[in-house]
Amino acid sequence: MRFFLLFISVLTTELIGVASAATHNEHFIPDAVLRVTEEERKQSCVPLKDILVVNGTSPGPTLKFTEGKTVWIRVYNDIAHQNLTMHWHGLTMATAPFSDGTPQASQWPIPPHHFFDYELHVPIGYAGTYFYHSHVGLQAISAAGPLIIEDKDTPPYNYDDDLIIFLQDVFEYSDEVLEEKLLAVPIAYQGSQEMVLINGKGSGIVSSELGKPCDDSLSVIDVEPGKTYRVRLIGGTALSFNLLAIEGHDTIKVIEADGAYTERHEVSLMQVSPGQRYSFLLDTLETPDKQYYYIQLESREFGNNTRSFAVLNYGPPQTESSPPVYPPASPPITLPQTDPNWLEYSLRPYNDSQNPTASINALDFPTAEEVTRRVNITSYLDFPNYGLLYKINGQTWKEDLVQEPFLVSLYKDGGSNWPSMERALQHDGLDPVTYAFPAVMGEVIEIVVQSTGTAFGTTETHPWHAHGAHYWDLGSGEGVYNREENEAKWRRSIGHPVKRDTTNIYMYGGQAPPGTLTAWRAWRLRINHPGVWMIHCHILPHMVWGMNSVSFYILRVIRHLQRYY
Ligand SMILES: *[C@@H]1O[C@H](CO)[C@@H](O)[C@H](O)[C@H]1NC(C)=O
Ligand SMILES: *[C@@H]1O[C@H](CO)[C@@H](O)[C@H](O)[C@H]1NC(C)=O
Ligand SMILES: *[C@@H]1O[C@H](CO)[C@@H](O)[C@H](O)[C@H]1NC(C)=O
Ligand SMILES: *[C@@H]1O[C@H](CO)[C@@H](O)[C@H](O)[C@H]1NC(C)=O
Ligand SMILES: *[C@@H]1O[C@H](CO)[C@@H](O)[C@H](O)[C@H]1NC(C)=O
Repeated sequence: MRFFLLFISVLTTELIGVASAATHNEHFIPDAVLRVTEEERKQSCVPLKDILVVNGTSPGPTLKFTEGKTVWIRVYNDIAHQNLTMHWHGLTMATAPFSDGTPQASQWPIPPHHFFDYELHVPIGYAGTYFYHSHVGLQAISAAGPLIIEDKDTPPYNYDDDLIIFLQDVFEYSDEVLEEKLLAVPIAYQGSQEMVLINGKGSGIVSSELGKPCDDSLSVIDVEPGKTYRVRLIGGTALSFNLLAIEGHDTIKVIEADGAYTERHEVSLMQVSPGQRYSFLLDTLETPDKQYYYIQLESREFGNNTRSFAVLNYGPPQTESSPPVYPPASPPITLPQTDPNWLEYSLRPYNDSQNPTASINALDFPTAEEVTRRVNITSYLDFPNYGLLYKINGQTWKEDLVQEPFLVSLYKDGGSNWPSMERALQHDGLDPVTYAFPAVMGEVIEIVVQSTGTAFGTTETHPWHAHGAHYWDLGSGEGVYNREENEAKWRRSIGHPVKRDTTNIYMYGGQAPPGTLTAWRAWRLRINHPGVWMIHCHILPHMVWGMNSVSFYILRVIRHLQRYY
């Protein structure tokens, strides 16, 4: 399922102004360089095959910048026969919509042996955990890496050190073969990920032959006793939805969700879907009674569940000569089923006048009274001729629908492919001619994402991701959204809506008649970030089914010139 929420702005002249002010000559030196290549690699639990790597590794190198700064990143496509883009997942790209890395929406893909310079302007208030990944086909399976935005001021929570847990799926086939199989009619692949990697390694129970162990070595994360760590958990998986807990460390405290600080919230385990990021505080044991404690990770929702591990190492720090560590004979933790209420209606935005920068995401919540318009985004999974196809609001987006990336058209001719608000208002917010959802600067929109029973009479879990400005997340539920009931639920709850960029619609019972509304997720958004922004389910196979056969563009048209930074 993939839609493009295209925030096209009538601010064309202003955008061009931004772009031309930064024309690069031969002396230009970017702040960072990433080079993407295709290499033959043996990853944990899957056969040797070609994968994409960034600067030679997957995950690629960690990029670190500071909020409030503007940096340029040069991305080289060194893959012989594939296009490439790079998306800075979670960053708003408010003043640089041409840097969002979405093929057909914000840019032409980078052809082989070319590079593209991306401008990242990171606004104040965006310190937190992000990742970068290609937005072409299934490339983000491995062409991805952590992106950390550091605080300009002292962070609002005390911790001794930072750790990263970056999750990725591995499949039996290369991206290209997998994409062919997914798009075949009839469909030629019904499997799921074979294993989920933690920081590039993983081992435990694979999915294809239930119960079969895989004994590759594990990632080792060095810790010291009696310290507090900020653990940055990044859901870089292509498909899998995961639960994670740490042996012997029963309480952890969530402090960040998708790049915004939250009030401290205690949990015993984490749930993380593709595209989501969380930080949690981990207090290490004062007197550990052994060297290694397992981090246990299990997939849920799609296919057979996989189980994988990494370890916290209380012993001497790992060196190249340290002995490898393997999965335990039996799992130390029993992880529950998915909880669709996990963190729902219970997080609060961090809000402390002593720390105004970290509290920015608590400001300006649009109340129900301020909402000027509602837009429904309703998905349906169809199965014509035994091939899979997602429909959004009944429309199917065909590959040749958009001849040129929307933003490129705008820069070139001022917007010939202009969506019509009049047509959109007659079609639940979607302009059926341009396949886009327009919006006007200053509107306050409630976006209600709705799931329906599939052609198979089943339901699915979908992590919905929005590019551009973060939305206020109004929660989720089974059945049909009712604003009054939901407002009342917030009044009763300990939480307050927080700003997010990736949140789930859950499958609940698992079965529903085809096409009936089954579940919803609601977001509220002030339209104040001009640009061309996609909204899509972050499960890569779903995007591929959308991209090549069904998805369409959503445009928000910004009609008023306005400057934000
Ligand atoms: C990636 O590799 C290039 C050289 O191939 C190097 O110049 C660059 O600094 C590397 N980037 C990072 C973030 O390590
Ligand atoms: C790369 O993108 C261009 C422009 O969209 C397209 O014409 C071309 O077929 C793509 N190449 C590959 C290998 O997908
Ligand atoms: C689940 O495991 C069974 C074997 O136990 C296997 O036949 C089946 O293909 C697996 N399903 C997926 C989706 O991998
Ligand atoms: C944050 O604190 C300010 C000042 O105390 C208050 O006005 C605002 O309502 C608070 N925001 C939230 C989301 O609690
Ligand atoms: C959105 O969907 C709901 C539930 O089906 C429906 O009642 C409402 O009229 C729709 N609103 C718009 C603006 O499409």
